[in-house]
Amino acid sequence: NSEVFILAIESSCDDTAAAVLQNDKVLSNVVANQLIHNQYGGVVPELASRAHQQNIVPVIDAALRKANITKEQLSAIAFTQGPGLMGSLLVGSSFAKSLSLALNIPLIAVNHMQAHILAHFIDEEGFDKPTFPFLALTISGGHTQIVKVNHFFDMEIIGETTDDAVGEAFDKSAKILGLPYPGGPLVDKYAKLGNPKAFVFTKPKVPGLDFSFSGLKTAILYFIQKKKLENPNFIEENLNDICASIQHTIIEILMDKLKMAVKETGINQIAIGGGVSANSGIRNTLTENKYGWKTYIPKFEYTTDNAAMIGIVGYQKFLSQNFETSSVVSKARIQF
Ligand code: KG4
Ligand code: ZN
Repeated sequence: NSEVFILAIESSCDDTAAAVLQNDKVLSNVVANQLIHNQYGGVVPELASRAHQQNIVPVIDAALRKANITKEQLSAIAFTQGPGLMGSLLVGSSFAKSLSLALNIPLIAVNHMQAHILAHFIDEEGFDKPTFPFLALTISGGHTQIVKVNHFFDMEIIGETTDDAVGEAFDKSAKILGLPYPGGPLVDKYAKLGNPKAFVFTKPKVPGLDFSFSGLKTAILYFIQKKKLENPNFIEENLNDICASIQHTIIEILMDKLKMAVKETGINQIAIGGGVSANSGIRNTLTENKYGWKTYIPKFEYTTDNAAMIGIVGYQKFLSQNFETSSVVSKARIQF
């Protein structure tokens, strides 16, 4: 039987996720979001690992049921080895190890950042797969990277943030405006109704392809403080324009670096991933195609943290028999 069934588990941050793939097709993709963190304005690691403990069995159970696959049919178990929160990673890896031992099937360790990129290779109707080499822009609440992808497991980080991730820049700006966490989607929503050129925020000067977003946050904070002294209702009266201007600045920062990366590498295929790729401004800018790039935007459920992306890497590693023993360890920090 040449069909490969992979059970994939993702538990690196605050989402407990499981998926079942048949070769490169997704049969099920289940995510339990941990809403508990919203009231704290960010992910609380201790609470995240506890919630993973509670969610992992039901989530895996649901993934198998939705896929209509029994445990005995599985070819291998793939799990997120890192990077991520150690207490969260351990829940997924311990479960994966136990199940692989119990079922006597191979165990596959997956790099979460590679998975965000390789999610583009999930077979999905209406979505093209990039060809090698391409550039990946991974943007989320935890990551901001430009990666040169030569082949499935031959990747090179050519630019990354030196401080906050793009998602944090959105969320922290939103917080300054009094919007609830995570504020990124709200900034996007109000930005649609505003003038992106209403206010100007200076862009950081960072050498090469690296990013910095902490200065922008400070600039926005000072700007708002100053404006509120003049007019206590400044935010309420200008929310759409403020959001549109913040979003416009962030998009320009990203596009400036992408333009540089395309110029430096001569590669003009761009694949985006990570939760911030849901941003309508970023999507519009990329699909407008004003730079002459070929851009790839995956299906939304494969851009935020999910297990299907872990599964597609698992499938690739299965084909090359790239397996681990149960002594493999989770890693809070790993490169490629
Ligand atoms: O990939 P993700 O779900 O989780 C990780 O951080 O790994 O990304 C979540 C981040 C949050 O910072 C959230 O505010 C941001 O993605 N985000 C957005 C939008 N949707 C989600 N930021 C801007 N515009 C959006 N539409
Ligand atoms: Zn992620």
